[in-house]
Amino acid sequence: MKKAVLITGAGSGIGAATALEFSRQGYFIYLMGRSKEKLEDVALNCRQGACLLSCDLQDSSQVNKRVREIFENPIYQLEVLVNNAGIYKTHTAETSTDEIWREHFEINMLGPERLTRLLIPYFKERKKGSIVNVSSTLGLKPTGPTGAYSALKAALINWTQNLALELGQCGIRVNCICPGIVDTPIHSFHAFSAEKKQEALGKYAGLQPLGRIGTADEIARSIYFLASEASSWTTGAILTVDGGINLT
Ligand SMILES: NC(=O)c1ccc[n+]([C@@H]2O[C@H](COP(=O)([O-])OP(=O)(O)OC[C@H]3O[C@@H](n4cnc5c(N)ncnc54)[C@H](OP(=O)(O)O)[C@@H]3O)[C@@H](O)[C@H]2O)c1
Repeated sequence: MKKAVLITGAGSGIGAATALEFSRQGYFIYLMGRSKEKLEDVALNCRQGACLLSCDLQDSSQVNKRVREIFENPIYQLEVLVNNAGIYKTHTAETSTDEIWREHFEINMLGPERLTRLLIPYFKERKKGSIVNVSSTLGLKPTGPTGAYSALKAALINWTQNLALELGQCGIRVNCICPGIVDTPIHSFHAFSAEKKQEALGKYAGLQPLGRIGTADEIARSIYFLASEASSWTTGAILTVDGGINLT
């Protein structure tokens, strides 16, 4: 059977780069995300083939339906889940709302938890599985008006370690990546004019010990490392891939 990976938020940024990295490594890719058009664009470059699973992670019935489609396909063996999808909205303690917290909880925390819960029996039956959660350096050390985002990314880190303890005996590894600042559509500067973007990037670069912000490809390679046999004795790890910013 051909090996497969399921990647959420696969239509853009880190998720799209991760899909291409796994494709280069010989995987069939299940691409999950809200926008079908974005997933279609990524699928065009997945050399080993891809299946589009468009759904909103906030809608459990859509997610259940998409996971059933994976199980119905006997040709591919799902070996890896990358919980990458996420939103990032800034707010201060005073401009915070129930809606901002609920949305961050549902997409950045309950989304990964629900999907993982659905896949655990499948991984257990095969005594094999690797899960990589995409958190953030803000989950380790908050830096600004990002209360909901930072708190839920911290929850994702804690949950990763909890799962690693529980699932190790079943042959399932669970690890976490904490990216620093990476140039993807999640940031408003991504849509700035070239000149304004350079200005913003210059400001962020100055904060990094390595002197620049990261690329989606650099995160994708680290996700692949944690998912693959190259890290076969690693579980519960929290890997910062951040140009050193977590040290500042
Ligand atoms: N870029 C950074 O600096 C940075 C730093 C640390 C951590 N991260 C984390 O990296 C992950 C990927 O973000 P990115 O930087 O690559 O940004 P991005 O390009 O905006 O990717 C986010 C992805 O999440 C998907 N998504 C959002 N809400 C969803 C929902 N309700 N249901 C299904 N999919 C949903 C989006 O799909 P649609 O476009 O189809 O809605 C999008 O493809 C996120 O978890 C983010 O928190 C990023």
